[in-house]
Amino acid sequence: MSTPTKQLALVLGAKLGPLQLKEIDVPKPAAKELLVRIEAAGLNPGDWKVWKLGILVEKYPVILGFDAAGVVVEVGSDVNDYAVGDRVMFQGWVDFATFDVHGTYQQYCRVIPECRAKIPANLSFEQAATIPSGLSAAALPLYSRGEGAPSAKLLGPWEEGGRGHYAGKPFFLLGGASSIGQYVIQLARLSGFSPIITSASLRNTELLKSLGATHVLDRKLSSEDLTKEALKIAGGPIDVVFDAISAPETLTAGFEATSPTGDFIIVSNRPIPGASEHPDKKVHFARGLFNAPFNAAASLSLLAKLPELLESGDIKVK
Ligand SMILES: NC(=O)c1ccc[n+]([C@@H]2O[C@H](COP(=O)([O-])OP(=O)(O)OC[C@H]3O[C@@H](n4cnc5c(N)ncnc54)[C@H](OP(=O)(O)O)[C@@H]3O)[C@@H](O)[C@H]2O)c1
Repeated sequence: MSTPTKQLALVLGAKLGPLQLKEIDVPKPAAKELLVRIEAAGLNPGDWKVWKLGILVEKYPVILGFDAAGVVVEVGSDVNDYAVGDRVMFQGWVDFATFDVHGTYQQYCRVIPECRAKIPANLSFEQAATIPSGLSAAALPLYSRGEGAPSAKLLGPWEEGGRGHYAGKPFFLLGGASSIGQYVIQLARLSGFSPIITSASLRNTELLKSLGATHVLDRKLSSEDLTKEALKIAGGPIDVVFDAISAPETLTAGFEATSPTGDFIIVSNRPIPGASEHPDKKVHFARGLFNAPFNAAASLSLLAKLPELLESGDIKVK
């Protein structure tokens, strides 16, 4: 089947404008890129935030969509690790030279090396399309070690010597049942952290324990009680705390539980009450774009290992 020259895309023509289905050109892949026919695209909270709040994107028109899975239909002249017909998952990306966004709500998309991974045989396109941005927002603020990366700069569990590297150290995660949270639990488990304490609706306890959480606290607890319970289970202040929700109540609980020089990762850039009184706590606002320059090295190394991690069940998807 030859690649068509025209395709349909969901286009946001202007900030806070309507989304419109439009016919646009099918792009050509550059030397290191793939052209992928999209079979499934994932939804993210970021999509409605750009559309309805007008944040994150400055250049319009724009095609939104952070996650997709599909089939390679063309490879650039310098690509030797992918072939036409390969099944691939990828994250929509921003060209940091032009600020053009290459989103996934279109039928065909150019895909750069930092954003793509092969889909193992045990996953459908629909499952694979849920993975990239949840995983990147979980992994990169923990493990990206590029200069200037907003990250705890831990050794990744997919890297040499990384598996079990943090054995016996406690980990606290607010929002274990979120898409990001489910990957954080699994990465913390692979890193060896223990106990892994999380907050969620208690109906999710069994699921979260199956992923590696050791203790699930009711998200309805007050901030004070969440902190108190987490510290009691951990046996003292916690060096690595991840707030996958970053609402006012979770930020308070997470920041309080973080040790005086510990790392506190947040996913929304909101002020944290009392933060100015503890300047040595390191707060990192997650930047989940695989191809952000400070994330590129970690992204390439994680995405190369991802098919194996998914196939072995080390990382599970819903
Ligand atoms: N900075 C970045 O790079 C980046 C990247 C991606 C996403 N984000 C942001 O990260 C946030 C999470 O995204 P997501 O896709 O992971 O979300 P999601 O999958 O839509 O999360 C929904 C879940 O959050 C849980 N939740 C809500 N409020 C909670 C609370 N107070 N305490 C504990 N759990 C709570 C609920 O779990 P229960 O069912 O257990 O109640 C709910 O099922 C969004 O704000 C998104 O915009 C940031």
